[in-house]
Amino acid sequence: MFSCANCGYQSVKWLGKCPLCGAWESFSEQKETRATEGQITKERQPPRLLKDIGKEEFKRVATGIDEFDRILGGGVVRGEMILIGGEPGVGKSTLLLEVASRLSQKEKTLYVSAEESSQQISLRAKRLKTDFDNLYILGEDDLQEVYNYIKEEGFKFMVIDSIQVVQCPIADGSKGTIGQIRGCADYLTQIAKSLGVVIFVVGHVTKEGALAGPKLLEHIVDCVLYFEGEIVTSYRILKATKNRFGATGDIAVFEMTSEGLREIKKINDVFLPHKNKPVSGSSVVCVIEGLRPILIELQSLVSRASFGVVRRRSLGFDFNRFSLLVAIIEKRLRLSLSSEDVFLNVAGGLRINDTAADLGAVVAIVSSFKEKDIPAGLIFIGEVGLSGELRRVNNINLRLKSVERAGFNRCIIPEGNLKEVDKDVKIKVEGFGALKEIIDEIF
Ligand code: TYD
Ligand code: MG
Repeated sequence: MFSCANCGYQSVKWLGKCPLCGAWESFSEQKETRATEGQITKERQPPRLLKDIGKEEFKRVATGIDEFDRILGGGVVRGEMILIGGEPGVGKSTLLLEVASRLSQKEKTLYVSAEESSQQISLRAKRLKTDFDNLYILGEDDLQEVYNYIKEEGFKFMVIDSIQVVQCPIADGSKGTIGQIRGCADYLTQIAKSLGVVIFVVGHVTKEGALAGPKLLEHIVDCVLYFEGEIVTSYRILKATKNRFGATGDIAVFEMTSEGLREIKKINDVFLPHKNKPVSGSSVVCVIEGLRPILIELQSLVSRASFGVVRRRSLGFDFNRFSLLVAIIEKRLRLSLSSEDVFLNVAGGLRINDTAADLGAVVAIVSSFKEKDIPAGLIFIGEVGLSGELRRVNNINLRLKSVERAGFNRCIIPEGNLKEVDKDVKIKVEGFGALKEIIDEIF
């Protein structure tokens, strides 16, 4: 069998280009013969009535890191396998070391580090200042050995750091190949289900998402957490994209400090440095990332291009959306940006996807272009359509409540949302139908 190293597509003959993902020269041969030794013996489990399956099999164990528990749906469940994906250096090992130290105070916990030496882990644990007196550590890349230790010592929680550097007896090929990663995941699932161990698995994703790994594993594991954030800033965002024992969609924010990760419970305090003085080129918007409304500052800089080519850059804001908004400004507001460099930045290093930030982005760009201040204490909510109209957004009351709580007193929203606004919203809410009217109003 030949399989694509990029997406795992299988073919009986070698192919130059993968028909599924389009990667070139990504096929390599994989032998399907599987060794029988090292197989995990499973107990026979005859069919049972669903109603007889008791609650005791579904007990959650909280790690004690509140934000982490919340994302998991209240804690970990026996026999659960959790994948933590993220770019190298984002802080996966740091987070899991913290989690493992907390769990080790409840039951026997093993941290398997195939990537770093035990000394390195020890140094890090000291830096984190956590209580790791009961945490076991193992520098081993052979999962069969790991399995033996778990059976002998009766570990109940385990961390595998990372799946790309371990190997198992049930698959061929060297570490990090598709076959080996899939084999390891199968093997670990069997360990988790047969011994009731909770397993956290680290998986690296590269910037291009090219490397085999997490994508392939998502089907196998019970829960997929992504840990992301610009490495240059200290904020990290954790979100669940799949969760068999809880909800997905919500996010948790952590800050990387010199003593490890710190939970951030009031996210609005972090991303919003000032609200009382008017600034040009900087607007405040309310976006919903996951299930939570976040107030965030958008900053824009428009300056005359010094070379023939103009520069357009956006950081933390979808580039296509940004280009669209620049085009709308030119056409619908009749402002000529054709010889201007335009930059847009989301303060704090967060990446936002909510289209409700459109209006704020347009206002920030226009403000910087005209060099006029945006009134202080004003929030912008609204999606901008191609004809320069303001389109309605979802969850308007949730957003307004959060604006109110953050101490802002005025909010501009789409006209279409106006009639849904709750009576008990105390801030001044103004509805507009077109972009032009808003720009005339505030500048
Ligand atoms: P790490 O957990 O090793 O990342 P990953 O396992 O995802 O590759 O953490 C990497 C970065 O975190 C590293 O560049 C240094 C930084 N860091 C801190 O800033 N403070 C700390 O206390 C620790 C342990 C790490
Ligand atoms: Mg690591």
